[in-house]
Amino acid sequence: MMRERAQFMLTHAIRPDAAYEFASEVKLGLSKPGQKELPSKFLYDDVGSALFEVISVLPEYGLTRADERLLQRHADEIVELIPGSIAVAELGSGSGKKTRWILQALCRRQHTPYFPIEISRTALVMCERELGDIESMSIVGFEREYLDGLVEVAARRRTGQQLLVLFLGSTIGNFDRPAATEFLRQLRQILQPGDWLLLGTDLEKPIPQLVTAYDDPLGVTAAFNLNLLARINRELDADFDLQQFEHVARYNQEMRSVEMHLRSRRSQIVNIPRSGTAIDFAEDETIWTESSHKFTADEIFWLARKAGFGCRRQWIDHEWPFAENLLVAE
Ligand code: AVI
Repeated sequence: MMRERAQFMLTHAIRPDAAYEFASEVKLGLSKPGQKELPSKFLYDDVGSALFEVISVLPEYGLTRADERLLQRHADEIVELIPGSIAVAELGSGSGKKTRWILQALCRRQHTPYFPIEISRTALVMCERELGDIESMSIVGFEREYLDGLVEVAARRRTGQQLLVLFLGSTIGNFDRPAATEFLRQLRQILQPGDWLLLGTDLEKPIPQLVTAYDDPLGVTAAFNLNLLARINRELDADFDLQQFEHVARYNQEMRSVEMHLRSRRSQIVNIPRSGTAIDFAEDETIWTESSHKFTADEIFWLARKAGFGCRRQWIDHEWPFAENLLVAE
């Protein structure tokens, strides 16, 4: 007998024109005096999201596997720590693969509403395909920015229902440290005391290991980074010559982050008609596209406290140092 699939609905964002936002942020970032930059959120169009899925299975990039191992091993324990009626919201669900363990553990106890929040519609569709077979679960996907989506999810909670927010995969590491604290503070404001946040954080490890994780020998991460220029060509009619840019990953000791850059191999001018601009590059000049901050296990307790959470429990993977942190809104 065919198993009935979970109910799935996509709620559409009334977002400001995404194409206009892309064109203006590209112009702003590339016209910055000093270090040129592009926001890392633009790495994830359909091609970028597919490349990220490949990165997550590369032997050199242990982060996703560590996250999945912890969630698989400790799902029952995590769910036991959060009694009562729970609705789950996930910020940046991606394909949804790593979320399965927690949802299955919760659904064994109770019917569970699950609200993935994503700016990528393709990721939401993939997430439904991956998780739609879980029994006793309903899915409503929100095509929104994280906090806008969470406000809507919080408004849908039933009386007496607690929210469990999942923010996995160390996406928090893609914010700089002050922005990460501020983001968690804003998230806390949307929650009620007693709500939960399960936060995945990648931990510090030897620098060569980290750099190889972001500069794999197969060149998948290079393609993921260069795709941002290809995306600007596709969507903004630009004329970036991808052969003339090179992927660079470097560790920033002061920030404790791995930075990704795109280095111009020569001096050149790139036209970006839909942003109404042309950009000059000097030889060796770089565009900074992403930072992945790394944490110490103790630091998470302080980060949580500053944002209005208590850290109830922490689980650490020792094969690839990574911490899963169960925080409670105070
Ligand atoms: C999504 N995020 C946590 C990844 C990271 O490790 O910072 C994105 C990534 N960039 C290069 N490889 C993976």
